[in-house]
Amino acid sequence: NKVVLAYSGGLDTSIILKWLQDEYNAEVITFTADLGQGEEVEPAREKALKMGIKPENIFILDIREEFVKDFVFPMFRANTIYEGEYLLGTSIARPLISKKQIEIAEKMGADAVSHGATGKGNDQVRFELGYLGLNPDITVIAPWREWDLNSREKLLAYAKEHGIEIAQKHMDENGNPQVSPYSMDANLLHISYEGLHLEDPNAEPEDSMWLWTASPEEAPDEAEYITISYKNGDPIAINGEEMSPATLLKTLNDYGNKHGIGRIDIVENRYVGMKARGCYETPGGTIMLKAHRAIESITVDREAAHLKDEIMPKYAKLIYNGMWFSPEREALQALIDNTQKHVEGDVRLKLYKGNVIVVGRTSPKTLFSEAHSTFEADDVYNQKDAEGFIRLNALRFIIEGKARRNK
Ligand code: ARG
Ligand code: SIN
Repeated sequence: NKVVLAYSGGLDTSIILKWLQDEYNAEVITFTADLGQGEEVEPAREKALKMGIKPENIFILDIREEFVKDFVFPMFRANTIYEGEYLLGTSIARPLISKKQIEIAEKMGADAVSHGATGKGNDQVRFELGYLGLNPDITVIAPWREWDLNSREKLLAYAKEHGIEIAQKHMDENGNPQVSPYSMDANLLHISYEGLHLEDPNAEPEDSMWLWTASPEEAPDEAEYITISYKNGDPIAINGEEMSPATLLKTLNDYGNKHGIGRIDIVENRYVGMKARGCYETPGGTIMLKAHRAIESITVDREAAHLKDEIMPKYAKLIYNGMWFSPEREALQALIDNTQKHVEGDVRLKLYKGNVIVVGRTSPKTLFSEAHSTFEADDVYNQKDAEGFIRLNALRFIIEGKARRNK
């Protein structure tokens, strides 16, 4: 029996790898994705080999472009935000990882897949809905729901007992390497922090927790201007330079990190029911959200734009809850994409100490009619037309007002 494991090379998934070999007597196939998390993925090969994985069973794939082009950008066409704050950096990456695991399973004749998400969170749901949505016959192994290694201590003991190397990532104040303290997830869209003292929703995180962005206090005192160009609702260039989707997002991340943009600290409602506190850095995404709204503001019809806004929370919830490969997400996507065909042009932004300020927008497809909206004299709009418009809108009030008052 072969099982495809989503393998980061970190401690948790290394323990899972060993556990699958021991408990399931499984031939493990590892899948390590470069999603732009900013960590080398190649070391995962060495680690997998050391744990007895056959070279042909090790998959290390750079899926950054597919991630941004087919997942992040479609999501940003909807101006998607979960619960008013969260830009879904982790949520949107899970379906792609599932998809790759299923593809590898089919190629390698594996009948099972496995992941390292706990039994308490959203990720397990997202991975597994992805697996089953793409292959109804696949067997899912979720070690966190099966084993009794339910604390950090037990995990470390298991690692020690089985000679699993404990990743040394961060330095403590004395310069000694130590295991990163938070539960973290990173990709080109964001980096997340959960757990430890963040579990007190009233405790402010120390500034050193934030690994990507400068704090707004330490960001440059000089504002910086950038221009983002759009086509069909997606960003295609920065300051006139065309870029691939992943390069473009990476470039926006660099701008955002420098200017302290995109930090949030929230308590969110997990799909499984509990509230959870999380801190996130989404520098490029925060810039894109503002820029996309700005270009839409001159290129999308009012009612189409409002309709999008109405379905957005629903769409965000679908992604948060792991329903990417669902018929309803695809139907909503078709509607959203349909509204984007004229969403093109340039947005000028000013970046300054945590702020993204739109300062200009222009489009060959603009619906902005200066002749109509001017405060000066015009010859296209008849102010008299507004009189009947307002009286008819008021008709209900007039009828009801009269009826009630005359009683
Ligand atoms: N709470 C966020 C979400 O549900 C982030 C999850 C981070 N995942 C992780 N394995 N650390 O999308
Ligand atoms: C996990 O449970 O593995 C991380 C948190 C989440 O998925 O919500």
